[in-house]
Amino acid sequence: MQDRKRLQDKVAIVTGGGSGIGRATAMLFSENGAKVVVADVDVEGGEETVRQLNNQALFVKTNVASSDEMKLLIQKTINQFGTIDILVNNAGIGNSEVRSMDLSEEEWDRVIDVNLKSVFLGMKFAAPEMIKKGSGAIVNTASLLGLKGQKYTSAYNASKGGVVILTKNAALEYGKFGIRVNAVAPGVIDTKIIEGWRQNERKWPIISRANALGRIGTPMEVAQAILFLASDEASFITGATLSVDGGGHTF
Ligand SMILES: NC(=O)c1ccc[n+]([C@@H]2O[C@H](COP(=O)([O-])OP(=O)(O)OC[C@H]3O[C@@H](n4cnc5c(N)ncnc54)[C@H](O)[C@@H]3O)[C@@H](O)[C@H]2O)c1
Repeated sequence: MQDRKRLQDKVAIVTGGGSGIGRATAMLFSENGAKVVVADVDVEGGEETVRQLNNQALFVKTNVASSDEMKLLIQKTINQFGTIDILVNNAGIGNSEVRSMDLSEEEWDRVIDVNLKSVFLGMKFAAPEMIKKGSGAIVNTASLLGLKGQKYTSAYNASKGGVVILTKNAALEYGKFGIRVNAVAPGVIDTKIIEGWRQNERKWPIISRANALGRIGTPMEVAQAILFLASDEASFITGATLSVDGGGHTF
């Protein structure tokens, strides 16, 4: 008899699935037997992920900061697959590197909406479906910068710190319904979001080695942690934030 896969027949939504960590997570989930819904505001990226999954996934164009679009994402998932077992709130953006007094209010709002309000919305609309069935796993992508401060990234820091504490809140609220809620806190990972840092010849050699392992991580290394937290192997883990940062949080 064939071994049962770790996410056999689970229905999973991955936001930000059109690139980087989200794409790696969608690929790994699919390899592990999940039916995957890729959500992203970037149509080209989202469709490319689905293509890489041999068209065995559903793409739903979604702006995660929009309440209507997040509600529709959950509805379309239910219409297509009848249920939702796993939600990965992963989509995110950075902010311009300026002192907080020089950051515009518009940019502050945008970063908080895309990185933090989206997590609230995803859980708000997915939790009732998971409560109906008495089970579910939610994994939110926080950041090393949600655990420690850094100059010039105020909105990003605040949004990701918010994700860490919102994860604990939701774990407390939904534990009795069989729903686990956890987060990952990646360090510097090789994706589009760090392109600006990579171009900085002075800072990059420092940033790229600022952890115990002395290198940046890959999207798949984060996806492996997300898979673990989403799977039944993490059945007694909830409210946790797992650092995936080469030891970057240790100093
Ligand atoms: N790469 C890193 O070093 C790093 C470190 C810590 C945390 N993170 C977090 O990991 C997550 C994934 O980022 P990544 O590194 O894969 O970067 P990425 O830029 O490769 O992927 C981010 C994805 O989110 C999508 N997205 C952005 N705004 C959106 C919106 N409003 N609605 C829907 N989708 C939207 C983008 O289109 C993109 O596909 C983010 O939350 C990011 O903050 C990344």
